[in-house]
Amino acid sequence: MCGIIGYIGGRQAQPLLLEGLHRMEYRGYDSAGIAVQADGVHGVRKIAGKINVLEEVLYRDPVAGTAGIGHTRWATHGPPTTLNAHPHSEASSRTVLVHNGIIENYEILRTKLQELGHVFVSETDTEVLVHLIDEVFEGNLEQAVAAALSRVQGTYGIAVMHVADPDKIVVARNGSPLLIGIGDGDSEEMFVASDVAAVLAHTRKVVYLDDGELAVLTREGHEIIAVTDFGASGTQRLINREVSHIDWDLDQIERGGFEHFMLKEIFEQPDTVRDAMRGRLLEEEGTAHLGGLRELADFLDDVKRIVITACGTSWHAALVGEYLLEELARIPVEVEYASEYRYRRPIVTAGTLVIAISQSGETADTLAAMREARRRGAPVMGIVNVVGSSIARETDGGVYIHSGPEIGVASTKAFTGQLTVLAQFALYMARRRGLTLLEGREIVAGLRALPEQIERALEQDELISRVAHEYHETSNALYLGRGYNFPVALEGALKLKEISYIHAEGYPAAEMKHGPIALIDENMPVVFIAPTDAVYHKVVANIEEVKARGGRVIAIVSDGDSQLAERVDHAIPVPRTIDCLQPLVSVIPLQLLAYRIAVMRGCNVDQPRNLAKSVTVE
Ligand code: G6P
Repeated sequence: MCGIIGYIGGRQAQPLLLEGLHRMEYRGYDSAGIAVQADGVHGVRKIAGKINVLEEVLYRDPVAGTAGIGHTRWATHGPPTTLNAHPHSEASSRTVLVHNGIIENYEILRTKLQELGHVFVSETDTEVLVHLIDEVFEGNLEQAVAAALSRVQGTYGIAVMHVADPDKIVVARNGSPLLIGIGDGDSEEMFVASDVAAVLAHTRKVVYLDDGELAVLTREGHEIIAVTDFGASGTQRLINREVSHIDWDLDQIERGGFEHFMLKEIFEQPDTVRDAMRGRLLEEEGTAHLGGLRELADFLDDVKRIVITACGTSWHAALVGEYLLEELARIPVEVEYASEYRYRRPIVTAGTLVIAISQSGETADTLAAMREARRRGAPVMGIVNVVGSSIARETDGGVYIHSGPEIGVASTKAFTGQLTVLAQFALYMARRRGLTLLEGREIVAGLRALPEQIERALEQDELISRVAHEYHETSNALYLGRGYNFPVALEGALKLKEISYIHAEGYPAAEMKHGPIALIDENMPVVFIAPTDAVYHKVVANIEEVKARGGRVIAIVSDGDSQLAERVDHAIPVPRTIDCLQPLVSVIPLQLLAYRIAVMRGCNVDQPRNLAKSVTVE
């Protein structure tokens, strides 16, 4: 995700900022830049691409000065171009700013600022902050930042400088991490960063900002003040925050203290699911607002049939999408492996919408399938994580999942991000086709509750570790589910085979009778996804069939379902939500189970053998 670094002190800022940016490279980024303040001007250098490109630019055209800010950007609004890279400034470069997070009301703010004569040059949500701060600036930067932030909705970690109030960096946080590093050296110096890795080479003394706080950094020190304290009264209470000492090494920090990126990404899901909904849910109207579909809106109203195409985990998300769209919006949906679709003269009738789902946005088969669909006249919509990726660029409209960079090869948070977007898309389509307001509101409420429910599912990690311990030497496993949880069974089996190399199959639970039942004996663990949903009793009957043949059953059950819990060998309870959202919760223990088993088998979890994160070849 995006990274922020800032420095003010006695040393040259440029090398320190570059070093800080390098330390955050592991987070993933697609553009970078720095701004250094000296003698009443800001030297801004930024590029699309990697930090070494920025270094080449700075080698030819360095920026001198002892105060500056830098940024690595992971695109969210607008593709990764030089103009969209941070730091951002207005035409006169009086204000420069770097920002992590998403400004939700940027469109309204931009229109108002344009009316006042501000000229925008980027496609980012961030640029409104620069213009807004500049608009309200009256000589004191912290006052201006606080005034601007009072008009902003969304999440942010920001660092700002202004030439008319020089020798200070003002930083503020709301929902996006920020910390101050207190220099260890002889001279007074201060750092700001979104990630402790960026300052660790220079100091281990840090102060973490909380949401709603603003800090002023100067060469003399730092002051923290609540943003709301900048009211009319003019009295600002300084917040006394204790200094933390960082003992972690860099390697531990990159993984956020987790043993592997995959585990970190599994535990990020309450946040990433929240991010996939940010600014999109409309409570009152019981629907979702998906800005990236504007161009497709008319076509969507007349859609007769939807084909979803994808590979791997994204294909499993597509299957959940099929159930969602057919049940809620009553539109016929087919799900196609991209590798098959591209070669089999697919039928594209009038009114067919093709949806391409891809975490990376670069999967060769998915790209080829969507091109084939377009050639045959179908509009293509993308559900993609990486902004500005090939698939994102070539679609006619789309919705980003905003999950941040996924580094573990086995996809986890992208899957739940895709499901969150698919649920919102189905809701949007359904509300335009007869789903009632009350039903719509129920789904919105269900979506809103998900992050907390995923959090509770993650609390089962210890129990799951005990189950993993019992089964980590098995050589086969069967995953069974029905309805919305059939694709979850497929995904659970895929996770296990990808990272632990145990042979695992996913099936619709009732299909078991037509083959897999022959495999069941006391050595065969069978994982059932059995929440108390519409097909619960059917699944329980399938569980009985396995038990009758001596199979060992691990069941994902609904919280409080003690009856079923007693009948199986291991029950892993998770919160219950409405049927169509249940996969977002049920998949969590399956990700953890695969992870724990793989670790116990000594496998390289983040980079499993033979697999690639992004398959850009056929
Ligand atoms: C590879 C990855 C999988 C991913 C699949 C599709 O096989 O290892 O985790 O699900 O590609 O990738 P995409 O980026 O298109 O979602």
